[in-house]
Amino acid sequence: MAEAIILRTTGGPEVLRLEDVDVGVPALGEVRLRQTAIGVNFHDCYVRSGLYQTLSLPGIPGLEAAGIIEAVGPGVEAFHPGDRVAYFTNSYGGYASERLVSAQHLVGVPSCVGDNIAAVVLVKGLTAHMLLHRVHAIGPEDTILVHAAAGGVGQILCQWARHIGATVIGTVGSDIKADLAKKAGCDEVILYRDEDFVQRVEEITKGRGVDVAYDSVGRDTFNGSLDCLADLGHLVNFGQSSGPIEPFRISNLSRGSYSVTRPMLFHYSSDRESLDAMANALFTSLTEGVLKITTPMTYRLDDAAAAHRALEARETTGSVVLTV
Ligand SMILES: NC(=O)c1ccc[n+]([C@@H]2O[C@H](COP(=O)([O-])OP(=O)(O)OC[C@H]3O[C@@H](n4cnc5c(N)ncnc54)[C@H](OP(=O)(O)O)[C@@H]3O)[C@@H](O)[C@H]2O)c1
Repeated sequence: MAEAIILRTTGGPEVLRLEDVDVGVPALGEVRLRQTAIGVNFHDCYVRSGLYQTLSLPGIPGLEAAGIIEAVGPGVEAFHPGDRVAYFTNSYGGYASERLVSAQHLVGVPSCVGDNIAAVVLVKGLTAHMLLHRVHAIGPEDTILVHAAAGGVGQILCQWARHIGATVIGTVGSDIKADLAKKAGCDEVILYRDEDFVQRVEEITKGRGVDVAYDSVGRDTFNGSLDCLADLGHLVNFGQSSGPIEPFRISNLSRGSYSVTRPMLFHYSSDRESLDAMANALFTSLTEGVLKITTPMTYRLDDAAAAHRALEARETTGSVVLTV
């Protein structure tokens, strides 16, 4: 019997409980996947807590996983039973030992990428690709600020930006995270729980500010990130780990002709061509060693609550994976 975490009500991590589920046979365009590893994303905490009401309850949370195809439904030609694949989907259903999933979300996994990495790298890696190449195409001339630089998205974002040649300033919540952020390519690291990051960015950039601030922390950093921008700078808010952002006056942007965007990965990767191009860039960077993914912090599927507690308590570094 397959097992899945069924969310019956929103709330704290304790609402994540394992139940038996009947998976069924794949319908048109679907595959049945035996999942070996499941990626945990901060998005899952927003869904579990009720901040995002994007999963119909009862429902199975989880955006991404890796595994082996057990069966394919009618109309699936690009994938076959036995194929090793990964996916991400905004239809949820990831926190399960087996599931049905539309083949349009699947990508093949290169043999040099292990299951645990494959399960965690799509959402975070494709987000980094979107942020650095499409939301704001950065170059070697740019100085960027990356909040939560030792986190799952943060480490990939910093490595990729450094590879492009940008100067990277990272913020982190602890000394251990500062070491990881340095290893991920940050030129400068700010301990933003102890130091005023706006003042430190001003010192580091000699009063100029940064060209792009990549801010996934939200409430606690949004206004400070605006204050860090150089003239014509771009604040990219792509998450809210500390909570939702208060409304702000658009006239504040006229201080430096700033722009603010709020990109979502799903909109940048919703068609097959974009997904393939982005996944190809990500896997090429992994196989060529441009990106190195630190071993994910591992929990069993039935211990998903502990994974959420650690993520929300800022105890994790890099990525978090659930194993089946
Ligand atoms: N827009 C998109 O399409 C998209 C796609 C993927 C991810 N995201 C966003 O990217 C962010 C990173 O996701 P992730 O899964 O890789 O998580 P993560 O960055 O590994 O974990 C969140 C980190 O945020 C920092 N943080 C600061 N204040 C916090 C608070 N009050 N509570 C909890 N954490 C706090 C912590 O790092 P420090 O201890 O160093 O402060 C924490 O480790 C999330 O906001 C997520 O929603 C957005």
